[in-house]
Amino acid sequence: MNFKKITILGGGNLGSSIAQGIIDKKLTNPQNITITRRRVHLLDALKNQGVTVLSENEKAVEGSDLVIFAVKPHQINGLLEKVAPTIKAQKPIVVSVITGVTISQLKKALPGINVVRAMPNTAIALGESMTCISGNGDSKNTEERVRKFFGQLGEAIIINEELMGAATVIGACGVAFALRFMRAMSQGGIEIGFGAEVSQLITAQTLKGATRLILESQNHPEKEIDKVTTPMGVTISGLNEMEHQGFSSAVIKGLLTSFNKLDLVKLKKDN
Ligand SMILES: NC(=O)c1ccc[n+]([C@@H]2O[C@H](COP(=O)([O-])OP(=O)(O)OC[C@H]3O[C@@H](n4cnc5c(N)ncnc54)[C@H](OP(=O)(O)O)[C@@H]3O)[C@@H](O)[C@H]2O)c1
Repeated sequence: MNFKKITILGGGNLGSSIAQGIIDKKLTNPQNITITRRRVHLLDALKNQGVTVLSENEKAVEGSDLVIFAVKPHQINGLLEKVAPTIKAQKPIVVSVITGVTISQLKKALPGINVVRAMPNTAIALGESMTCISGNGDSKNTEERVRKFFGQLGEAIIINEELMGAATVIGACGVAFALRFMRAMSQGGIEIGFGAEVSQLITAQTLKGATRLILESQNHPEKEIDKVTTPMGVTISGLNEMEHQGFSSAVIKGLLTSFNKLDLVKLKKDN
């Protein structure tokens, strides 16, 4: 069952992407979506599609059956103070996409409310997110309802809450990691003869194809790599040189560095 009136508190990169995904996938009418931020003029693109844009969070949550918190971690406490009375009175389902803020922290301010954490990524705007969901085992029905909702905006799975940090790194930061690889491949393409636009197109479509090969076959990547690597051939030579230069090690170390940084994230102010 989809939600009728959806409110997104914090219309930044992720909040706006969620709203765009909901509109494009027609999960509800744009008129039933409300999104907030303090600088509302930055939400004109959504406003022009029929979404209600507001700076008053208290007003925005009125009558909603789904409220999504999408502000930065250090902004949540001030926001909760404002909206908790209305949420406690009206009892919508609350979803938080905020990194590092636990369900028990949210429930302290919202006792008796069904709270679920979700970790999507910005590809949600295209209905291609990977979203990890956790209700901390509290309300299985709510957790499943939220999973189904995000499942219409890409893939959505339920995980234990203690894995939310790992989900943040692979699923959310992962977009940036993949795009940096894409940039590197595209720049290499320029050095061996293509113009920037063509090189980017070849790179992006090749990565899309490689991704589908894995998603649809569920093969281990090495199995698909074996199909491309002729003995003494060009592909294996390039691949091995990348490994000599520390490719896999650099990716894994980068993931671990991001993971170890998560604990500091709540203290970080806007920059
Ligand atoms: N970006 C991602 O890929 C991603 C992925 C997964 C999870 N997350 C998590 O999602 C959250 C949002 O990330 P983001 O990248 O979208 O950050 P962001 O672009 O900075 O968005 C946060 C938004 O919240 C608004 N805001 C701040 N205080 C507010 C208030 N009191 N009322 C209403 N709006 C308020 C800010 O706009 P104003 O300054 O105009 O108010 C800003 O646009 C973070 O907790 C992040 O950890 C992000």
